[in-house]
Amino acid sequence: MNQVIDVLQSHRSIRRFRPDPLPDGLLEEIVRAGQQAPTSSNLQAYRILRITEPGLRSQLADWAGAQEYVRLAPEFLVFCADLRRAQRICQRQETPFVAGMTEHFLIATIDAALCAQNCVVAAESEGLGVCYIGAVRNHPEEISEALALPEQVYPIFGLCLGYPDQDVERKPRLPLRAVLQENRYSEAEDAELLAQYDQQMQQYYQHRSDHQKDSRWTQEVAAHVGREARPHMAGFLRRRGFLQR
Ligand SMILES: Cc1cc2nc3c(=O)[nH]c(=O)nc-3n(C[C@H](O)[C@H](O)[C@H](O)COP(=O)(O)O)c2cc1C
Repeated sequence: MNQVIDVLQSHRSIRRFRPDPLPDGLLEEIVRAGQQAPTSSNLQAYRILRITEPGLRSQLADWAGAQEYVRLAPEFLVFCADLRRAQRICQRQETPFVAGMTEHFLIATIDAALCAQNCVVAAESEGLGVCYIGAVRNHPEEISEALALPEQVYPIFGLCLGYPDQDVERKPRLPLRAVLQENRYSEAEDAELLAQYDQQMQQYYQHRSDHQKDSRWTQEVAAHVGREARPHMAGFLRRRGFLQR
């Protein structure tokens, strides 16, 4: 293997950071690496907000379900899907902007996620730890207002970055055969593969250094999808001008 694959296969989310700031210029270098991610039709339909005001950071941490690491991470970025830039280009050129297309929403969301994951890999290759924060979608209206987000922009997730102050185990992933298949979708082996993974995850949950529990992966999945997930998101996104058609 090479060093890039090593970095990718060593990923684990970090939720406790040393207070040391990033060296000068590193964050910018990381974001430049993020920007070089492929982007649909080169639209680059995202914007990243670096949250440096302590009061604002604290407020975001509260809105994200009081996740202390949002408050304490040396850096916290909010990745936003941004079709506003494209809308303004159309306005300036006096050409139509077709608002509300689901496809445009997907493009902006995917662009932002690819950029973010490039940032993650760049950061981890420099010895930093990261944790995505989807919980910024707990209070998206409040967060949008606090960050002065205009219409056609929404916060997708946050990202904590900093030097790790914990050494956590890698979380095992599904067996490769459960995700990589040839030509046609098949559920034929799922029961066997999931049983195998359940066993592995049960061991992991029981023996990991933090938040040990007796659970199986399939139990966790069922618990997640067995309840409504942020039901406010549909209305929020429509009010922002997304997902009209
Ligand atoms: C889009 C996204 C949102 C996430 N949101 C949170 C979050 O709000 N809080 C948190 O502690 N972890 C969050 N995570 C981290 C996941 O829980 C973690 O990636 C997953 O359990 C796999 O563990 P690993 O990253 O350590 O391999 C998020 C991950 C992703 C990709």
